[in-house]
Amino acid sequence: MSSPFSFTGRGVSFDEDLSLNPLFARSNEQTALPQFQLPTDEMLPGTAYQIVHDAAMLDGNARLNLATFVGTWMDDQADRLYRESFDKNMIDKDEYPHTAAIETRCWMMLADLWHAPEPESALGTSTVGSSEAAMLAGLAFKRRWQLRRRAAGKSTAAPNLVMSSAVQVCWEKFCNYFEVEPRYVPISDEHRELDGHDLDRYVDENTIGVVAIMGVTYTGAYEPVGEIAAALDRIAAATGVDVPIHVDAASGGMVAPFTRPDLAWDFRIERVASINTSGHKYGLVYPGLGWVVWRDRSAVPEELIFSVSYLGGDMPTMTLNFSRPGAQVLLQYYLFLRLGHSGYTRVQQSCLDVAQHLADGIGALDCFELWSDRMDIPAFAWQLAPGYTDRWNLHHLSERLRIHGWQVPAYPMPDNLTDVTVQRVVVRNGFSRELADALLRDIQTEVTYLEKLTAPMPPAHRAHSYHH
Ligand SMILES: Cc1ncc(COP(=O)(O)O)c(C=O)c1O
Repeated sequence: MSSPFSFTGRGVSFDEDLSLNPLFARSNEQTALPQFQLPTDEMLPGTAYQIVHDAAMLDGNARLNLATFVGTWMDDQADRLYRESFDKNMIDKDEYPHTAAIETRCWMMLADLWHAPEPESALGTSTVGSSEAAMLAGLAFKRRWQLRRRAAGKSTAAPNLVMSSAVQVCWEKFCNYFEVEPRYVPISDEHRELDGHDLDRYVDENTIGVVAIMGVTYTGAYEPVGEIAAALDRIAAATGVDVPIHVDAASGGMVAPFTRPDLAWDFRIERVASINTSGHKYGLVYPGLGWVVWRDRSAVPEELIFSVSYLGGDMPTMTLNFSRPGAQVLLQYYLFLRLGHSGYTRVQQSCLDVAQHLADGIGALDCFELWSDRMDIPAFAWQLAPGYTDRWNLHHLSERLRIHGWQVPAYPMPDNLTDVTVQRVVVRNGFSRELADALLRDIQTEVTYLEKLTAPMPPAHRAHSYHH
């Protein structure tokens, strides 16, 4: 039996039973359990706990995972709040009106942080992550465009969304699920980010919006939102086609306001209609939280807004999910209170300092070339210096670093740079300078090992390493 969605775990076949160590089995309990069928009988909670605990224990060590942007540590008070609130359902605003009020406070704080002209007239919501936020922002774009086109008696048959070829997969999903043509502007050596160059070749009357990224997943770079907006201004002046921008600030939305306060990338740019961020990335909350904020109510067609009952009245909501955990929203509020502006600035700046320290160390090795000499979010990529060697590559180095427990993904860049392979490190809260030095030593050790090879390494196992 096999399924296209099956992930049975390393080396485990679909038909193999789970065998239970007799030490944990109580008398009369089964010691063999099917993996993919509901067990016939019940078992003691202690036994079930042990099985799940033992399996989860084999997952990687989050501290050594430099591939993910997602938070894996919160302090004791946050853990306590989490335990106290994991039963709250975000959609049940009638039962949990205070959690609902806190959600509103949080997105309004974000609207204010991102310079919405009037945060109280903005519209926002929490989501499960940036992907759900992207679906909602894309949907608002599509519906606004359809309404405008219908009112003008024009066709709505072929909407398109314009973005860099380096967008995160959530935008590809949006276009697929909501039937919008994705128009990817390829990155190149001269234009390593979407910067407005050539935009008039991609934008037309069927363009529902342009996505700009603050913290490109592949490299950490900020796309110049101001330059993209200026290019769209020129297009509007020349053709009358007036296209809004959504900023995918999954990572940068909680970094740039603190470490580059003078950089105008947000609602200070009039063309920016909506912004998303992941509360669970540099918002510093455990997985399961995103945010999307629209500049004002006019950016979201009324028909996309649903009412849920709230204190005997109605409250507008716009989400894809119905029930979902409310605890993460409370954790976000906890952090907003606990850290404030200065706390977030210190945390993000210290991540940037560690990332710069690592980048300096890696860039100093002859075999590597940093992708950029600018550090935007605390993440950076490097490539093998061109022509350096054909005996090993960054996939081999990635595999060798796994021996030490580090997850440092290597992957090809998107179109038109697919022949370039980069490796990337994401520095998150809690990744200390000492850990960075340990990683540098391990990189040095493994480069020395690879350098000593007298014959080329066999082709690396290139299963795409996880890097989102
Ligand atoms: C730029 C960008 N957008 C969207 C996402 C998706 O975010 P989430 O995992 O919160 O759904 C990511 C994730 O890395 C990202 O880097």
